[in-house]
Amino acid sequence: MLDKLNEVEKSALEALQAVNDPAALESWRVANVGRSSPLMIVFAELGKLSKEQRPVVGAAANRVKMALESALAERAEAVKNAALAKSLEEEELDVTLPGRTVHIGRLHPATQQLRRVLSILAEMGFQVYTSREVETDEMNFQMLNFPPHHPAREMQDSFYVEAGDPSTGSGRSDDNPILMRTHTSPGQIRAMREAVASNPQNPPTIRIALPGMCFRYEQITARSEIQFNQVEGLAVGEGITFADLKGTLIDFARRMFGQNARTRFRASYFPFTEPSAEMDIECFVCGGKGCQVCKNSGWLEILGCGMVHPNVLQNGGYDPKRYTGFAFGMGPERQLMLRNKINDIRYFWGNDIRFLEQF
Ligand code: PHE
Repeated sequence: MLDKLNEVEKSALEALQAVNDPAALESWRVANVGRSSPLMIVFAELGKLSKEQRPVVGAAANRVKMALESALAERAEAVKNAALAKSLEEEELDVTLPGRTVHIGRLHPATQQLRRVLSILAEMGFQVYTSREVETDEMNFQMLNFPPHHPAREMQDSFYVEAGDPSTGSGRSDDNPILMRTHTSPGQIRAMREAVASNPQNPPTIRIALPGMCFRYEQITARSEIQFNQVEGLAVGEGITFADLKGTLIDFARRMFGQNARTRFRASYFPFTEPSAEMDIECFVCGGKGCQVCKNSGWLEILGCGMVHPNVLQNGGYDPKRYTGFAFGMGPERQLMLRNKINDIRYFWGNDIRFLEQF
């Protein structure tokens, strides 16, 4: 048996010397280490051997198998290199060979959508105003007409960064803790105050877009994340009406979703706008007939909006008797989810390259 194994090894290695191309390599593999090769037959027949012989022959067979396999790998490498060398020599230059692709990074899908929104708003005259992500309770809520303990705060569970502490003397107090902004709306107050400071007697009109990350203390699920982008719009001036709000947002929807996009407004509630509304667009997946994406309603909710509440104008430094305004807020991730039928919001910050590369 051992002699037979040595013979198998010797003749196989000899035969391998003559192998020069991939096809011959493959038939050598089948003949010498394939399922019905002499070597494998030895393995199959181990059971027939006596107790004393079995381990000896088994070990020898294993050694031969390893020797043949590593010789095969070595030969395969040599065959490949020879083929490459031959083609390089004979063909000189193969201009049809694809180049090596360079892996180029790109903007995150949420950022791409954020920029689409901003560029449409820019065409419509809204300038970007960047506000802070860490806010005071006063700006995030109180100045927007959510007094402490107001039930509307329940819509926006918050991450508090630092509890209020009057003893620090930093201007914080127990009812003005620091938190991560839950929406971009506090930027309205900051922008209005800045504008008023530039000309207190005659505050300028405002047309701004406020983009950026917002944070809410939510259970993370397919539909809600603890962080997401918003784009807020704010227009303040003399004689601005709800008709301006509707005209602006309908125009926005057409620019974003196509000239035929149909929209509707539904009454809603936000403490900082009065009246308040939500705008829907006709479901672009089913064309309004009703499907899973629009939950059979035919409509997709796209943004919240309303006329700036007089208290909010006042808090921003604008005289509500002279000025009016409208505001709206939307979520770029949500828009992208609807548009591309993304059914789980966690993909956005999950950092999975297979998701990100699709955009
Ligand atoms: N800030 C609101 C929210 O996050 C959206 C909104 C903005 C509504 C502006 C009306 C006006 O839910």
